[in-house]
Amino acid sequence: MSDRYLTFALCKGRLANQTLGLLEKIGITCQEMKDPDTRKLIFTNEELKLKFFLAKGPDVPTYVDYGAADIGVVGSDIILEENRNIYEVLDLGFGKCRMCVCGPKEAEGYLKSHELIRVASKYPRIAKDYFYNTKNQTVEIIKLNGSIELAPIVGLSEVIVDIVETGSTLRENGLVVLEEVCPLSARMVVNQVSMKMENERITDLIEKLKGALENA
Ligand code: PRP
Repeated sequence: MSDRYLTFALCKGRLANQTLGLLEKIGITCQEMKDPDTRKLIFTNEELKLKFFLAKGPDVPTYVDYGAADIGVVGSDIILEENRNIYEVLDLGFGKCRMCVCGPKEAEGYLKSHELIRVASKYPRIAKDYFYNTKNQTVEIIKLNGSIELAPIVGLSEVIVDIVETGSTLRENGLVVLEEVCPLSARMVVNQVSMKMENERITDLIEKLKGALENA
């Protein structure tokens, strides 16, 4: 086996736990990562020569692009927004949700008549691409960092572009899905140089994961 460690960057939170669950199915475990009280940032499986670290979602493509991680697991929303030079190799099928244009029902007309409206989003690139390139509608994009649903309620914007999973945040705040931008899910991404240098190990990993996903 190669002496070189393969390094994984995982998104802190639920996605990391689901990824570890999937890796376990193909015999990859990282015991010390399971300790809920640990403040460690990087974990090693000496036997398999693997390292894992937890990062903020939007930073995962950055680590992979620069080669600080060979492999990353992150939502496709973040991949689209960060637009890094990385290979997207596998849809992991979990973390499923939708990127949508949402707002009060009455805002529907603004989208039909292509008015110059304000659009608030944590995903300005995705929002801009959707309005400018898919819809051919000129809009003003306002970048926010969270609780996006507030924007149309307090009058910051007419609509938002945001993730909808169960739809309860929208419902509880009197908002609806007006248009769907794209479906989303967790993806495995790979550094472009690692894909060449560690091709055998990485291809083998992808094939095993595909098998585990098919049998799920
Ligand atoms: C996300 C998203 C929505 C909500 C959708 O926010 O931005 O607000 O979850 O989920 P639902 O359809 O199941 O209600 P998150 O909880 O990540 O926090 P944020 O608002 O700070 O981005």
